[in-house]
Amino acid sequence: MSKVWVIASGKGGVGKSTLVSALSVIFAEKDLRTLVIDADVGLRNLDLLLGLQDKVLYELYDYINERCFLEDALVAHLAYPNLKLLIAGQEAKTDDFKVEELKKIVETLKNDFDIILIDSPTGIGKVFQSLIELYDECVLVSTSDVVSLRDAEKTASVINIRRRNSPYLVINKVDFASESPDKIALALDMCLLGALPESNKLHNTMLLGKSVTECGDSAVLKALNIIASRMQGLEIPAKPEENQGMFNKIMRIFKGGA
Ligand SMILES: Nc1ncnc2c1ncn2[C@@H]1O[C@H](COP(=O)(O)OP(=O)(O)O)[C@@H](O)[C@H]1O
Ligand SMILES: [Mg+2]
Repeated sequence: MSKVWVIASGKGGVGKSTLVSALSVIFAEKDLRTLVIDADVGLRNLDLLLGLQDKVLYELYDYINERCFLEDALVAHLAYPNLKLLIAGQEAKTDDFKVEELKKIVETLKNDFDIILIDSPTGIGKVFQSLIELYDECVLVSTSDVVSLRDAEKTASVINIRRRNSPYLVINKVDFASESPDKIALALDMCLLGALPESNKLHNTMLLGKSVTECGDSAVLKALNIIASRMQGLEIPAKPEENQGMFNKIMRIFKGGA
């Protein structure tokens, strides 16, 4: 039976959807039956990132309203038939997704997939609160700026209260010359799942609507593969660049130190 991963963040624009779309392709390439759920109710974008914008006929919202079967809402990737996308609902409201119903649907889907990645809406709103109830593992994505880190810390504390364990942390858009993701994770008391460099190549690839895995940036691809392997339970020691940086100024501001 598959594991359900929720990818969340306190602040928006930190790279959740980018990470989810990239990881989904990596897992599909590993021959895993992979399901991606875009839970950003009313604001779907994973269809664009996976090149499936013209293929979405039904959404989870349609299934909930008995307008289609669940299978009809699963959109197969064009290059990877073992990768499917389920959009929550472009016209839906957050109230349309009741926790118990969501739980049941995800439990059903677990039988047909090896891994399920859920792209959470930003922040600690209603849908995210429901997702807390049903995930097996949670990853918070943050950049290393103080605002994003504070929001990540707050989101982690919401999770801690409900699930009594910390989510994993991915630091994105890192400048490895001045930032130390490892020390940031330590300061937040979270386990670092990985760190992705800031990459123009990656950004430009996304602008063109291509898959992240086509970005041609070897540092990004290496970091993504490490994250994917760690998600599969492989113990990969910290990369030197994850912990070599100085305890940067940003962290001192964030933690209120001198
Ligand atoms: N490592 C990175 N380097 C450069 N740009 C990135 C990186 N990761 C994401 N981006 C860009 O950041 C923006 C926001 O990413 P997105 O995945 O939509 O964030 P979120 O889903 O958290 O709102 C996008 O324009 C994306 O291309
Ligand atoms: Mg997003």
